[in-house]
Amino acid sequence: MATRRIGLSLGADLCWPICYEEIMRQLNLSIDYGGESINFEISRVTIEPFNIRQPCPYDLVIDRVTHWYHTSREWIKKSILMDDLYVYNNPWSIQSMEKQSTYCAMAKLGIPVPDTWMIPPKSYDEQADLDDTLDRYARLFDLGDIGRQVGYPHYMKPYDGGAWKGVNRIDNEEKLRETYEDSGKLLMHLQASVEGFDRFVRCIGLGPQFRMVSYNPSAPLHDRYEIRDDDFLTDDDRAQLEDTAMTINSFFGWDFNSCESLHRDGIWYPIDFANACPDSQVTSLHYHFPWIVLANIRWSVFCAATRRTMRKNLDWQPYYDLLQEPMSDRERLAAYARIGHQRMQTERFREFCDQYLGHLDEVAVEFFETEFAKDAVRNKVASLFPANEVEEFTELFWERIGQWRKDQLQKAS
Ligand SMILES: Nc1ncnc2c1ncn2[C@@H]1O[C@H](COP(=O)(O)OP(=O)(O)O)[C@@H](O)[C@H]1O
Ligand SMILES: [Mg+2]
Repeated sequence: MATRRIGLSLGADLCWPICYEEIMRQLNLSIDYGGESINFEISRVTIEPFNIRQPCPYDLVIDRVTHWYHTSREWIKKSILMDDLYVYNNPWSIQSMEKQSTYCAMAKLGIPVPDTWMIPPKSYDEQADLDDTLDRYARLFDLGDIGRQVGYPHYMKPYDGGAWKGVNRIDNEEKLRETYEDSGKLLMHLQASVEGFDRFVRCIGLGPQFRMVSYNPSAPLHDRYEIRDDDFLTDDDRAQLEDTAMTINSFFGWDFNSCESLHRDGIWYPIDFANACPDSQVTSLHYHFPWIVLANIRWSVFCAATRRTMRKNLDWQPYYDLLQEPMSDRERLAAYARIGHQRMQTERFREFCDQYLGHLDEVAVEFFETEFAKDAVRNKVASLFPANEVEEFTELFWERIGQWRKDQLQKAS
């Protein structure tokens, strides 16, 4: 018997890890693969001093904190460099690739990013060479002129944004100047607004698995992910969104990412493809929450069991090479996505799931009916909602998970 050890590197996440651990316990997998009989041990990664030469006890880590918690990030980097750990997502890519990089990559690859400018920040942290640098090289610019070029309305938002922090909708020059004055040290984009869009989709990618969610940005947090299956997308829409997400996720080495696109007049505009620690909370995902848990189980078990090699360096040339080939934009996007499918081993993954995880859905449908699962939901709700609303919202999210169960059973029958 060979054991693969999976570590969960966590911060505020409560609900999905409980569900992941319990479903894995119930599955009690024993996978005959590559001449071994493989089982799995799950535990949570702790934070403590470490010797850079001490061995890493894990084969794979699902990481949820390295974008802000640096001890964990550096432990993970050490474990990749020294111990050949597989982790998602790639910590170097998380550290160095911001929204700005995704916009540039997509624009270069021919994906229609709305017109986007970067402007130097209004103010800076004091630094020894700051004044010399700015005196010599910072050109005065006319913000009004840039505003006119981007057009109104547009969005002013941080180049490395997340969680809607610092996002402003700008309707006129006066508001633009005022918002810039107030923007402090933030490095900002001005981005043309996709006005009058008729669909807003969040495509969640986990390895070669994708879930399309219709998103309503003006609803309260617990209603933004709409409870609709695929009825809001044609097959062509779905294929295009999937190809775009696969392209960018594989380009940046993100196994787990969420990609936001707006649709208007037959065109899907990407506006936010840099979410390499996607929202996984039952309090926002509700109906879609079981999908995240199951997708995590499938991908982590596949990667750990097959000892999938982690791609430690990003290799962009094959995508750029395709720019030289004569083909339509849509064909080129499909060709980028094929590189992604190769890198993510889509075919092998599907075969693996069919062979070893065929019973997962059934186990999950039963699990998401238990008091244990409901308690996990309550747990997360209690950490975010005032005490007098905990029961009401637990019931709301539980009911939506119930609807997921029903839809699963219907699909299976
Ligand atoms: N170019 C745009 N056109 C229309 N709406 C936008 C645009 N950019 C941002 N928004 C709106 O602002 C929200 C937050 O912007 P986003 O780029 O997703 O930042 P964050 O990284 O903080 O999620 C989006 O969900 C969308 O509702
Ligand atoms: Mg966003």
